[in-house]
Amino acid sequence: MALELLHEATEARKRLYTVRRERRTVGLVPTMGALHAGHRKLIEEARSECDWVVVSIFVNPLQFGPQEDFDRYPGKLSVDLRVCEELGVDAVFAPGVDEMYPFSHRTSVEVKELTDHLCGRFRPGHFKGVTTVVLKLLHIWTPDRAYFGEKDAQQTAVIKQMVQDLNLPVLIQEVATVREPDGLAVSSRNEFLDPEHRKAAGSLFQALQEAARQVKEGIREAGLVRQAGLDILEREPLIQVEYFELVDPERMRPANDLRSAVRACSAVHVGNVRLIDNLLIQPA
Ligand code: PAJ
Repeated sequence: MALELLHEATEARKRLYTVRRERRTVGLVPTMGALHAGHRKLIEEARSECDWVVVSIFVNPLQFGPQEDFDRYPGKLSVDLRVCEELGVDAVFAPGVDEMYPFSHRTSVEVKELTDHLCGRFRPGHFKGVTTVVLKLLHIWTPDRAYFGEKDAQQTAVIKQMVQDLNLPVLIQEVATVREPDGLAVSSRNEFLDPEHRKAAGSLFQALQEAARQVKEGIREAGLVRQAGLDILEREPLIQVEYFELVDPERMRPANDLRSAVRACSAVHVGNVRLIDNLLIQPA
């Protein structure tokens, strides 16, 4: 079957009617387009687990702050459609801003506490924008499964919490981070890095790995491990650190006890590009 392109929620409802009548399971992969190897992995997982796969492509203005890169967010629909076709996606949902947020739109949804730290602290309103759009996409497509990346671990934790709190009948599948050969997590924003900044960006993964190494070696003082990661980042003059934290993987709050699993999470600016990454660390 050829790839279908849909722009409106009412079209989604019509299309779902036949999919459901055939008792096919539905997988949803929400994205903001500019599809790369990370998105591909999510789509491949959805393809292998669900009968009918829809990828949404929507650069959600609600989740960008006034000083952020909404206006220069990369992506070209025709290229993304080709990627989806190649991966055997059944439908792409690419609504316009007016379709998702008509002038009468007045509702939002917010997950508390999990959004207080890490990116939530530095991007006020960001997660509220994410949960609002994801809840709408889940209502429009009523998927059996929806796919999110571990690369945005806080986002995925927030979405899982929303699904639990609001009794949404969907299984959230978390997909491991896809990385470049030097460890840099694949991201749409990497294409803004010139060769010098691209090289410097490799330190982000090195810092996370150093934290993991120290915990596995038996160091149990969170402050020391955090400082070791920061030292690596601060040695790189092209990098400005926003945060480098060890957090409890469920609550996304700073962890003091390194005897159970922790997640090292970091956000940095490399020139004018903001990058985030994280690593789950299991003590030896
Ligand atoms: P976007 O940045 O396009 O990412 C879409 C999905 O791809 C997210 O779940 C993200 O975690 C995942 N992803 C990105 N890079 C990845 C990588 N290197 N490896 C594995 N997965 C990766 O995240 C968003 O869009 C938006 O906030 C969205 C959820 C679509 C809501 O607007």
